[in-house]
Amino acid sequence: MPALKTLTQTTENPALQPLMQTYQARTETVLGHWLPTGNTHPAELHAAMRYSVLGGGKRVRAVLVYLTGQALGIPLEQLDGPASTVELIHAYSLIHDDLPAMDDDDLRRGKPTCHKAFNEAIAVLAGDALHSLAFHILAHDPAMQCAAASRLMMVDVLARAIGSRGMAGGQAIDLASEGKTLSLPELENMHIHKTGALIRASVQLGCLSGEYSEAQYKALDHYAEYIGLAFQIRDDILDVEADTATLGKAQGADIARDKSTYPSLLGMAEAKKMAQQCHTDALQAIAGFDEKADPLRWLSAYIIERGH
Ligand code: IPE
Ligand code: IPE
Ligand code: MG
Ligand code: MG
Ligand code: MG
Repeated sequence: MPALKTLTQTTENPALQPLMQTYQARTETVLGHWLPTGNTHPAELHAAMRYSVLGGGKRVRAVLVYLTGQALGIPLEQLDGPASTVELIHAYSLIHDDLPAMDDDDLRRGKPTCHKAFNEAIAVLAGDALHSLAFHILAHDPAMQCAAASRLMMVDVLARAIGSRGMAGGQAIDLASEGKTLSLPELENMHIHKTGALIRASVQLGCLSGEYSEAQYKALDHYAEYIGLAFQIRDDILDVEADTATLGKAQGADIARDKSTYPSLLGMAEAKKMAQQCHTDALQAIAGFDEKADPLRWLSAYIIERGH
């Protein structure tokens, strides 16, 4: 019974790395296909979109779509559209997150942020256009081969996840909280929205790409809630512990902007314990799945142990 065995597993499985590389490469190819070429008019906008999407990022959200599909036995071709969709939304959110009006960061994925490499107006528009392209793919991708009702559900799931009561709302809370000390429930609420919602949507889109039972959907959704929170806790920890070169973004950015984070509120040891607890809960949520869900279990461990 592999599920019980993996419940105690806390270290990353070496089998995850090649699997992630495969899906990262696949995502890059699919994204390259959907994004207009850099010399398509208006060229500066298209160049900025490609600059911010291609050639970087861990692709955790796309990998989650693929691994969820793998756990349910869904063919890869049906997952390509949703996988690229969540990465486009993620890239848009990062471009806007880095703007001077938000976190005001100059470095992203080891290179100048979009507004530094281009300009602020192009960065705003590149984010807008990536957001639109994501929904176009969900509505249009012929390879997805799902019923119109499923596509509609995917559009709704994603729209709600990233709107004012999801990711965008979480980002608004984040900005309003600068310079204040949040309570732990407030901090958790912020993280669940700004980061957890898109991670949760990635798993949901994976399910909606094929056949699943209500019980499987619920279990995977709970898994996603836990790893979504764990992902942002780890991001907060890395802001303190990692270095700029490894992160590809400025270390200490949260401290510089006086953000409430798990380490700032609880201390480092407790923050790590919380991430560990999320991992344990995530494994518990999918304990009923067979070995096809093992990569999801490994990914959960990776999320709390990753170095960038
Ligand atoms: C960074 O996300 C922003 C957060 C939501 C914490 P990632 O750590 O997934 O960034 P990339 O895609 O790998 O660059
Ligand atoms: C970003 O959170 C969340 C979104 C982009 C929605 P952070 O502001 O912590 O992400 P980094 O640390 O800049 O990557
Ligand atoms: Mg931010
Ligand atoms: Mg930021
Ligand atoms: Mg951060």
